[in-house]
Amino acid sequence: MTIPDKQLISLTEKYQTPLYCYEAELIKKRYHELYSFIPYSKLRIYYAMKANYNLHILKLLEKEAARIDAVSPGDVYMALKAGFSTERILFTANKISDAEMHEVQSLGVLFNIGSLSRLEKYAKAYPGSEVCIRFNPDVVAGGHEFIKTGGEATKFGILLSNVEKVVAIANEHGLKIVGIHEHTGSGIPETVQMQKGMKNILGIITPARFPHLNFVDFGGGFKVVYHPDENQVDYETFGKEVVELFTDFCSKFGRELEMYFEPGKYLVAESGKLLVEVTTVKQNRSKLIAGVNSGFAQLIRPMFYSAYHHIRNLSNPDGKLMTYDIVGNICESGDCFASNRELPEIREGDILVIETAGAYCYSMGSVYNMRAMPSEVLVDGAVDTLIRKRLSSLELVEKIVGESE
Ligand SMILES: Cc1ncc(COP(=O)(O)O)c(C=O)c1O
Repeated sequence: MTIPDKQLISLTEKYQTPLYCYEAELIKKRYHELYSFIPYSKLRIYYAMKANYNLHILKLLEKEAARIDAVSPGDVYMALKAGFSTERILFTANKISDAEMHEVQSLGVLFNIGSLSRLEKYAKAYPGSEVCIRFNPDVVAGGHEFIKTGGEATKFGILLSNVEKVVAIANEHGLKIVGIHEHTGSGIPETVQMQKGMKNILGIITPARFPHLNFVDFGGGFKVVYHPDENQVDYETFGKEVVELFTDFCSKFGRELEMYFEPGKYLVAESGKLLVEVTTVKQNRSKLIAGVNSGFAQLIRPMFYSAYHHIRNLSNPDGKLMTYDIVGNICESGDCFASNRELPEIREGDILVIETAGAYCYSMGSVYNMRAMPSEVLVDGAVDTLIRKRLSSLELVEKIVGESE
């Protein structure tokens, strides 16, 4: 299903580099795969759009009947623009201001609230309304320290031990708690950790505490393969176990509830690639350095999370293997996509592809050093569509000047 290398090269000729390109079929495949792995009739998949908020990717998932996990007013407006109705959006309100609370509430989107103080404020402002409550699953797991969101050292969710306080606030103001949410972390390698978080959350849910409950949302965290030597996590077995766990829970609860997940990475990471051109090859004593026309501002995961992204030389695939540092064009020495990486000989002008760049890559990008973000292209078989255009340097400057006046 992956885009042939010849097609990738021709895309760089058509759209120039740096260029993000995404494979539409793979996004759809991953989305539907989760439904087949987790065979529960009331399963709902909420796409965590922070992973990649490109309008056309949102539209693609909207057509597949996905729903949206939004985390800011901007996310909500963007999801609405992509055609998602308000009922298909859940707003996870993390450290929001009062102004943001009122703005999103006026749009009619369900809130997922993760602190007692925000719950109080929301309850006072909107008594009698429906809410979802984010609890902290009390499990520490995830692919990197920065993306472990469970456990009491993190800023996310209400501690399980505060469940009675939540119930008291809701009862005092007539709030209807229709959803319970947790998110353990991102890129979780062990499904047993995800299940532990789920069990912890289910452990506090009783019909007496939550008589209006419609759904339990178990967040995201599904891992994808970044390194060619990694094994794919067995989500088929996980799915069956989870359905058993939840079905048992629902029969004790007395009602069949909806089960939500909120994958970001799993739906879009593998679909994306960043294509870059080698501008400089230099030998620094023992180190061979290949510099490219992109940098951490356009793909920050290696620098931010020490994340591995596989890199291939599309222009010289059969060249002699040599060891390189692949570095970016930003004026900081940490701006490095890969260290001591073996690749077929790299020459200036070669096109490299940085793989698995569909999630938390463009969306975490910036124009640091005043370089515009790359164009984005969506590939559907032989058809490619420009889905976001790169600004020229002058257009970028004019935009910034316009915003500054
Ligand atoms: C609340 C919440 N849900 C879902 C996700 C998506 O996580 P992932 O992309 O690992 O699936 C995140 C990621 O940070 C999150 O914070």
